[in-house]
Amino acid sequence: MTANIRAIRGFRDIHPEEAFRLHDIEARAREHFLRYGYHEIRLPVVEVTELFARSIGETTDIVEKEMYTFEDRNGQSITLRPEGTASAVRAYLQGGLKSMGGITKIYYSGPMFRYERPQKGRYRQFYQMGLEAIGGGGPLVDAEVIDLLHKLFELLEVNDTRILINSLGCGECRPSFRKKLVEFLESTSDKLCSNCKKRIKTNPLRVLDCKVPVCIEALKDSPVMLDFLCPDCTAHFDRVTEALNGLEVPYEVDPRIVRGLDYYNRTAFEAVCERLGAQNAVAAGGRYDGLASELGGDAPGIGFAIGMERLSQIVDWKNKAISPPDYYIASATPGARIPALNIADLLRSYGYCVETDLEDRSLKAQLRSANKLNIRSVVIMGDDELERGVLKLKDFDKKTQVELSMDEFVESAANRSRSSKGDA
Ligand code: HAM
Repeated sequence: MTANIRAIRGFRDIHPEEAFRLHDIEARAREHFLRYGYHEIRLPVVEVTELFARSIGETTDIVEKEMYTFEDRNGQSITLRPEGTASAVRAYLQGGLKSMGGITKIYYSGPMFRYERPQKGRYRQFYQMGLEAIGGGGPLVDAEVIDLLHKLFELLEVNDTRILINSLGCGECRPSFRKKLVEFLESTSDKLCSNCKKRIKTNPLRVLDCKVPVCIEALKDSPVMLDFLCPDCTAHFDRVTEALNGLEVPYEVDPRIVRGLDYYNRTAFEAVCERLGAQNAVAAGGRYDGLASELGGDAPGIGFAIGMERLSQIVDWKNKAISPPDYYIASATPGARIPALNIADLLRSYGYCVETDLEDRSLKAQLRSANKLNIRSVVIMGDDELERGVLKLKDFDKKTQVELSMDEFVESAANRSRSSKGDA
């Protein structure tokens, strides 16, 4: 069977097994975030285009060529969100979230859209879980955010990610670095890829994280931002690393971390995992103290977003998978169909997952189905059993079949469900 209409390139179906994994990670991440005081915010999937153009930056790859931008029926330019930070800060300013007191800590989860060249680990619709701490400019906020990310990997037993950090300076110190970098790039421009040649004028910092081998080679001796930091940015960065050391969070200082979004200043970081291959960043983020002012407000902030497909790929799932239903209720005669549905519902009300036949199939076909679904306990009932108030319980693991009174079966199922919930 093949569908004659297929999903759009770069957009994929997430089948139940993968959805189960994403859900599992999300549930654990939500609990983890809450322990640090982060609460969920649900943000729109579509925003006015200007929001992203102003915050992410007109000359970034995202804004220049990766956004899904449309006109709505009123001729307004709208964009499917390529990321969540711009919306989070907009929502903070618009909804007066400042009144939550202290640092506003929010997280979001959902699909993002970028018109990138699809490849393994890179999709046009992908899922992020991200969090933002808005309203706190101090270095300990940075350290806590990075610590939280590191502890999430620990919680998920992912032990081979590396956290790379850098400082991107601020409006004071970055211009002199940029000037030196442009001079350097111009002197080596013949050795750069064609894309980077253009970037010298538009977005020179991005040249630093170009993955094309000739550029990596050409940039070996380029100036680095860390050498140009002003005293305040130096003190900030030193305090971040001091706190990370104190928290025993492993990290590496990597001057090539420049990030593809223009709103960053000071601390920028990425978590990478070599097992992911070419698209090795599983999470990334940084500080964005000037972003709110681009949107008409004023608040420092820092956060990160995790690529959920990538994270799911590096979690070791061992034997964790969707479990088969607990019971199959088979009816041996037509008269038992509705009573079978009733028993199924009763068991569901106790919290069990139950399958039953909805297609008037033979008992043999029903048992085959149960087997295919890997259901270990099958209840069989027919006219005779109904008359006598009993049922047959087949246990595929123990390879037994016993006859039980209906009341006995129901009571023991109810008791087991109570004790498995710990309130027996
Ligand atoms: P970003 O680096 O653009 O940052 O994306 C964060 C993560 O999303 C990446 O490290 C990657 O795991 C995942 N990701 C990005 N693009 C794709 C794609 N096309 N397919 C699959 N996964 C992808 C941001 O989005 C910032 N908003 C992060 C942030 C939050 N900064 C501060 N707060």
